[in-house]
Amino acid sequence: MPWENVKLSSGHEMPSIAFGTWKLGNGDGPTDQVDQAISVGFSHVDTAQAYRNEKEAGQAIRESGLKRSEIFITTKYSGLNGLDIKTSIKNSLENLGVEYVDLYLIHHPRLAVPDIPTAWKEMEDIQTQGLVKSIGVSNFGVSDLAILMASAKVPPAANQILLHPYVYLTQSPIIAYAKSNNIAIEAYSALIPLTERPGGPVDTPVNEIAKKLNVAPEQVLLAWVKAKGAIAVTTSSKKDRLQRYLDAGDSLALATEDIAAIDAAGAIGTGFQASRKLGKTGAGVLIFAACISLALIGFRM
Ligand SMILES: NC(=O)c1ccc[n+]([C@@H]2O[C@H](COP(=O)([O-])OP(=O)(O)OC[C@H]3O[C@@H](n4cnc5c(N)ncnc54)[C@H](OP(=O)(O)O)[C@@H]3O)[C@@H](O)[C@H]2O)c1
Repeated sequence: MPWENVKLSSGHEMPSIAFGTWKLGNGDGPTDQVDQAISVGFSHVDTAQAYRNEKEAGQAIRESGLKRSEIFITTKYSGLNGLDIKTSIKNSLENLGVEYVDLYLIHHPRLAVPDIPTAWKEMEDIQTQGLVKSIGVSNFGVSDLAILMASAKVPPAANQILLHPYVYLTQSPIIAYAKSNNIAIEAYSALIPLTERPGGPVDTPVNEIAKKLNVAPEQVLLAWVKAKGAIAVTTSSKKDRLQRYLDAGDSLALATEDIAAIDAAGAIGTGFQASRKLGKTGAGVLIFAACISLALIGFRM
């Protein structure tokens, strides 16, 4: 296994890199993509009701020939068709063609209806019934987590959040809360500096580190996720890129100064984003605050 397993608070182990099926659509496409990811060595598939391709992912998983215990399946309660958690998990299991999923997440706090404690109790019930091995959340902020923890019998095993260098600073309180409560952090869309914000401040350190280590920029960003102690939830349509993702966990450890350089550039990028709203002075204050905060948290979690 190129990326180590992470032990969740539920006692179960989870591979620390996942292949995600968002945006893959339906039909043969997603089945072929999941098949390709498994053939390269991915053993963790991340899907959701909302992605509407659980059936296709399940087909690829079943056709892979892997034993159920050899593949880790995450899916999410997305409130599809207004159905409740207990009905939705049964539909997801049927779609995937499995008897249990390894991790079931509430996709977003606004889907925790009528409120977080009531929705979480339903999650605990389906875990007790053996339909899911571990339960967790996604896109939960610190206040959402605090509400959940106040009534939970079973703490969330994971919180899957947006995490890339441009949002590291703003997401740091969630990461710190998760760390102190033994909640694994899963990072999605870590490659946004390459996919949606090319030309931003993070490009310089990422490209320099990539050149120095003779690796691809996406490998540097995934190694950065790993350095933050997070589980990477990523995707690619390309076999060679998927292989590079896996190789990044195997052999690519970033130096402390490399991580610090990415963090600092990300913090500056956070400021540039805000400058449109705050004007130059406000953005300057924010960048200064960002640098101080990074220094205080020691650049890494
Ligand atoms: N819980 C949630 O709310 C939530 C939200 C969003 C996503 N997710 C999960 O996270 C998974 C990944 O999300 P994401 O697609 O946003 O993740 P990502 O890992 O940030 O981006 C993956 C994309 O990056 C592209 N890429 C890789 N290296 C590149 C490079 N050097 N230059 C340009 N493009 C490059 C790949 O394109 P190619 O196909 O061309 O290689 C691929 O489409 C999803 O499938 C889903 O499972 C969860």
